[in-house]
Amino acid sequence: MQSLASIPILTLFFLFGTLRSEQLNVAGHTETVSTALVAEFDLFSQYASAIYCDNNAQSPKGTPISCSKGTCPQAEDTNATVFGNFFNIGYFESTGVLAIDPLNHRLVLAFRGAEGNGAEAASLNKFISCAAICSECHCGSGFYDSWTDVRDQVVALIAAAQQEYPDYSLAITGHSLGATQAIFAAAELRTNGTAATLFTYGQPRVGDTALAEYITSQGENYRITHTVDPAPRLPPNGSILGYVHNSPEYWIFEDTNTNHTVNPGQIKVIYGINSTAGSSVSNTIFRS
Ligand SMILES: *[C@@H]1O[C@H](CO)[C@@H](O)[C@H](O)[C@H]1NC(C)=O
Ligand SMILES: *[C@@H]1O[C@H](CO)[C@@H](O)[C@H](O)[C@H]1NC(C)=O
Ligand SMILES: *[C@@H]1O[C@H](CO)[C@@H](O)[C@H](O)[C@H]1NC(C)=O
Ligand SMILES: *[C@@H]1O[C@H](CO)[C@@H](O)[C@H](O)[C@H]1NC(C)=O
Ligand SMILES: *[C@@H]1O[C@H](CO)[C@@H](O)[C@H](O)[C@H]1NC(C)=O
Repeated sequence: MQSLASIPILTLFFLFGTLRSEQLNVAGHTETVSTALVAEFDLFSQYASAIYCDNNAQSPKGTPISCSKGTCPQAEDTNATVFGNFFNIGYFESTGVLAIDPLNHRLVLAFRGAEGNGAEAASLNKFISCAAICSECHCGSGFYDSWTDVRDQVVALIAAAQQEYPDYSLAITGHSLGATQAIFAAAELRTNGTAATLFTYGQPRVGDTALAEYITSQGENYRITHTVDPAPRLPPNGSILGYVHNSPEYWIFEDTNTNHTVNPGQIKVIYGINSTAGSSVSNTIFRS
């Protein structure tokens, strides 16, 4: 149960269909999630899905981003292409793609979720220093290693792409274990002076309070969760061990309908690090 491999990645593919702008009731105040932001959630969920299609992780530069399973039609519609990629690197088989999205003038870095040994990353939950992000921060060792295994390749890819596309902004996304790599990449790049917007889907807790506060203060973080998906409660016993989530959370708190679309009234925006008001609220699946 307590492995990333057991988390249904299909929920990712079903979540984002026809979302619309809505007034959201959150703890005494309302917050409007703009149509534009909701469209971004939708688009980036498809980039996060696209990296599960091996062609996007292995094809050479210039190849169109595509998924034969039909899981990334909107990403395909942007005419995005592969700039560079990495496939099954290191013990955790870290895999990702840097795509060029000419429609939105964006570089999109997407990390794949658990495959193979990736499932073990969550159980390697000892805190280690991650001073490359912030001096006082501690990160979960398994999740962090799955990022540092590909750090140099990612940094080189982004530097090369920014030289070729100097006016493009950078967005980073990932699902499950891929979300942990995505958040470390975004946080460290920002620390080093590169702006990045982050969209994670089913992100586990990745580190301690200092890390959660630091990443929260960087801003531009969209942590999207779904009902009682167990991934955001990882690693096992995380709250006992001092793991804390970054803020805010965009919680889709009810199941999707038969068309696999989300009713706008099914999303809440929740602020505060280590909040239990969102997907961590009813811990009936396993101990948090
Ligand atoms: C994508 O490429 C196709 C074929 O060249 C073209 O018809 C379409 O307009 C392009 N879409 C965008 C968003 O640029
Ligand atoms: C950040 O800078 C440090 C120190 O120069 C370097 O070792 C590291 O690879 C950089 N990381 C990123 C993600 O840019
Ligand atoms: C979680 O903590 C409980 C109580 O301390 C312990 O019995 C259990 O083995 C732990 N589970 C894991 C996966 O660490
Ligand atoms: C996070 O919240 C949980 C549940 O309220 C609590 O048990 C835990 O101590 C908190 N962790 C920190 C680091 O504040
Ligand atoms: C599902 O989609 C069909 C066709 O677009 C529509 O007629 C139907 O009302 C939708 N069902 C739900 C529950 O949204």
